Amino acid sequence: KRILFVASESVPFIKTGGLADVVGSLPKYFDKEEYDVRVMLPKYMCMKEEWKEKLSYKTHFYMDLNWREQYVGILELVHEGITFYFVDNEYYFNGGTPYGDVKWDIEKFAFFSKAALSALPLIDFRPDIIHCHDWQTGLVPVYLDNFRYGNEFFRGIKTVMTIHNLKFQGVWDTKTVKDITGLPQYYFAPDKLEAYRDANLLKGGIVYADRVTTVSNSYAEEIKTPFYGERLDGLMNARSNCLSGIVNGIDYKEWDPATDSLISYNYDISNFRKEKVKNKLALQEALGLTQDKKAMMIGIVSRLTDQKGFDLIAYVMDEMCQDAVQIVVLGTGEERYENMFRHFAWKYQGKVSANIYYSEPMSHKIYASCDAFLMPSLFEPCGLSQLMSLRYGTVPIVRETGGLKDTVEPYNEFEKKGTGFSFANYNAHEMLAAVRYAERIYYDKRRDWNKIVEHGMSQDFSWKNSAEQYKNLYEEL
Ligand code: ADP
Ligand code: GLC
Repeated sequence: KRILFVASESVPFIKTGGLADVVGSLPKYFDKEEYDVRVMLPKYMCMKEEWKEKLSYKTHFYMDLNWREQYVGILELVHEGITFYFVDNEYYFNGGTPYGDVKWDIEKFAFFSKAALSALPLIDFRPDIIHCHDWQTGLVPVYLDNFRYGNEFFRGIKTVMTIHNLKFQGVWDTKTVKDITGLPQYYFAPDKLEAYRDANLLKGGIVYADRVTTVSNSYAEEIKTPFYGERLDGLMNARSNCLSGIVNGIDYKEWDPATDSLISYNYDISNFRKEKVKNKLALQEALGLTQDKKAMMIGIVSRLTDQKGFDLIAYVMDEMCQDAVQIVVLGTGEERYENMFRHFAWKYQGKVSANIYYSEPMSHKIYASCDAFLMPSLFEPCGLSQLMSLRYGTVPIVRETGGLKDTVEPYNEFEKKGTGFSFANYNAHEMLAAVRYAERIYYDKRRDWNKIVEHGMSQDFSWKNSAEQYKNLYEEL
């Protein structure tokens, strides 16, 4: 079987969030004898030079997008056994980041989606299934429907649309989107691309895909309700026969405290008691925190947006800082949250460390060094950070929503079971209570705490199980 992933980001080439981790790691987990999984990405100018240098020219052609004729270059790179194609066009992919202004992004990804399909006959790869990810590729199933009428090549190709985050849909006024995409009027109706009178690219993908998935079971249920449905809950209910949740995994080779070269001291489940804490001391020194191996260190690695629950943290940060904890933050995003953490790092020197930048190595160090990891999301389609934390013996404290609910088992003091701490309502003091409960176990019942760490480290959130579920889905198609 031939599968083509089409997506806007993928590790190791370009990453802004968990989507990149999924697209870059999942393809490796299919049996090569049975599956030829390839990936199509934009060739962003902001990609690291080391990768751009390695790409080799495959082909090029010209394609109409609306009134303009556009150059489409296709480059290729085989990385860790997976073939990646890159769509080259300097007019569209010249930004300093993959995403920017919504309207421009809509045009950019309409171009990308149409180019990805148009390239297939020329690169001699006819997938049985095209697997699309998020709104940026929502037009792929729509263009495919449109292409099918005129071209034998595209007939019979099936599509899967995976929703990693329903909040982002790619919405703009219908007339403009019709102009940009060059799609016939036929598609701009309420049972197709249109939603609330605007054109909605993700909706197009959901309507036209043969199967729709999200990245956890709970989120697949949640998005059928108005609170999580982002105004598409009606559509989600209508599509519920074709909608399922498959929880994400992480790359267990990349994320392994026993072999990770980005952390100071390697460790595993047999020796974390002695070795993990050395990482904490090293990080405390590097970040100018008080060096104290006993202090409970809480980590946050995240996009600093409302989705991740930072208004809860803002609300009780002062209270939390009265406790015997250290807080280490790594993230970028909304300015008010960036400044909030800078402020608290200044106010509580030696106790709070604000690292307002993006760094893969620093993220590994934080997962390895901290005792607990805080992730009080408002909504969370899956979440990968809590999986990385579990793998590194760092106990997650999460809100019970979406993938967090499905992957973190709340600690039960009486049965001594569980892998983390959680709270249900989106309320700052409920979050604080969960943090303080964790503090109590950490300081007063270290043996029990270490059991929680052990349970977490022995969970299996590699891609093995989830890749199997994607395989079943492909087989059904
Ligand atoms: P989302 O995709 O919603 O941002 P996930 O938990 O699925 O959330 O994935 C986030 C990924 O991005 C994780 O791999 C996390 O380690 C990484 N990440 C987020 N912010 C940073 C940062 N500032 N530096 C390094 N890695 C980051
Ligand atoms: C999105 C979601 C996150 C998920 C990731 C990968 O960015 O916000 O919860 O883990 O996609 O699927």
